[in-house]
Amino acid sequence: MTINVATTPYHEAEADWLIVTIDSSRNFDGPLGELDRTLGGVLTRLSESGDLTGKLAELLPLPDASGIAAQRLLVVGLGKADELTRPRFEKAAMAAVRSVSSKADVSVAVAVPQVSGGDISAEQIIETLAISLTVGGVGQDSLKAERGHHPLASATLLVDDGATSATEAAVTHGVILGEAINLTRDLVNLPPQQIHPESVAERAQQVAADLGLSCTVLNRKKLEAEKMGSLLAVAQGSDRPPRVVFVEYRGAGDDTPTLAIVGKGVTFDSGGLSLKPSDGMLTMKSDMAGSATALGAIAAIARLKLPVNVTAYLGLVENMVSGSSYKLGDILTARNGVTIEVQNTDAEGRLVLADVLHYAVERGADRIIDLATLTGACVVALGEDVTGAFSNDQDWCNQVLAAASTAGEYVWQLPTFDFYAELLKSDVADCRNIGGRWGGAITAAKFLEKFVDKKPWVHLDIAGPSFASSNKPHREGGATGCMVRTLVEVASSLK
Ligand code: BES
Ligand code: ZN
Ligand code: ZN
Repeated sequence: MTINVATTPYHEAEADWLIVTIDSSRNFDGPLGELDRTLGGVLTRLSESGDLTGKLAELLPLPDASGIAAQRLLVVGLGKADELTRPRFEKAAMAAVRSVSSKADVSVAVAVPQVSGGDISAEQIIETLAISLTVGGVGQDSLKAERGHHPLASATLLVDDGATSATEAAVTHGVILGEAINLTRDLVNLPPQQIHPESVAERAQQVAADLGLSCTVLNRKKLEAEKMGSLLAVAQGSDRPPRVVFVEYRGAGDDTPTLAIVGKGVTFDSGGLSLKPSDGMLTMKSDMAGSATALGAIAAIARLKLPVNVTAYLGLVENMVSGSSYKLGDILTARNGVTIEVQNTDAEGRLVLADVLHYAVERGADRIIDLATLTGACVVALGEDVTGAFSNDQDWCNQVLAAASTAGEYVWQLPTFDFYAELLKSDVADCRNIGGRWGGAITAAKFLEKFVDKKPWVHLDIAGPSFASSNKPHREGGATGCMVRTLVEVASSLK
């Protein structure tokens, strides 16, 4: 889809849909008033009758809008202007795009609102629109005969004062972010019989080749040579061999620090011998969302040519049940020599990340962010829409939290006091892989901390927000692509 910028008056914009926004003050001054007059005052009448309120993400379609060049009109509410934030604007924009994308080959013209008083800049409005236009037309139903959503054919952003270079940059930035989010969503949404360690590795190679990035794939033999005993134990019950992939982007000189983005890539988590019940297993194709996010983020960072050095590490295994599955009571030796007593084979993500984090450190990571659908406990603590953050370095964590706030994503830090680590003690090994009944998201993070060698590290538990259980007007169910934007923003902030 192409997105153009034009100064065409709203009523002259030719498209299948003209999309205009209105805040709850319903002020018909300026270009919206001109549109209303062209339409014979219908907007004013709808406002007076209470059909048009301007509430956040309220959609009022006029499928037969005569008198304007566009075939149809969609009015979208923004809520109170002084309460407008990036996530609130995105909710309205996504609801609008999703509602017009139910047919194929749709063209839209979007009136870019001039908002003041809220907490969102003009560039952020444009970028958010570009993301929504790119993401909102892609559903999770690519294998259905009749799709619910179709990518838009074209979009024109209607602005007052012509396309400045800042406007153009915000559009390009938004499209790149939207496409990266869609890459992550696509990988996560594909059914688990198509997605396994080898197929994810192939996809990573393809993405890297398209962007001219180096991509290295470690097979089982190499992983054995690298002594990744913890990761290999999780993989041993599956017919699908494990892979560790790293994709490298060098946008800055060799003296510039490297950011490692490490993703959990359990392509299916049955729980292993600590088997999950069906309800819990149903969405476990999404247990590789961390690695899909790492891949999406590095793709965007490379396309944006950010002046930073980033390596994305994908730890890819399938956690399955068979005669060769790892067992409760097994004692594993991780790459860094730490011995781990397995007390639950469903706490497998941390075993995979243990070795990949240590590998990233040894390969020269200066700062680390890992992403993992790690614990149900994090979803209990923060709900389905908020990512949990855990860190060993408050300055680094603050930088990640600030980036999330700028990107308009919800991240909340949980504590990592030393005493939580005591819950991981084992009588027979250096540690065990579960912490006990309470504070499960934190004990999981304390487990990971043993493998980062005191490098500045932030662990993001995306078990809740990476996969949505149902469709909503403003977002498709299934994979969300959360944290791609935050990671790109972190990389931007490293410049
Ligand atoms: N992949 C799951 C965590 C998860 C739960 C992700 C719900 C997305 C939604 C992880 O491997 C897991 O099973 N964790 C266990 C840990 C427990 C055994 C200590 C959990 O959360 O129950
Ligand atoms: Zn598990
Ligand atoms: Zn898992």
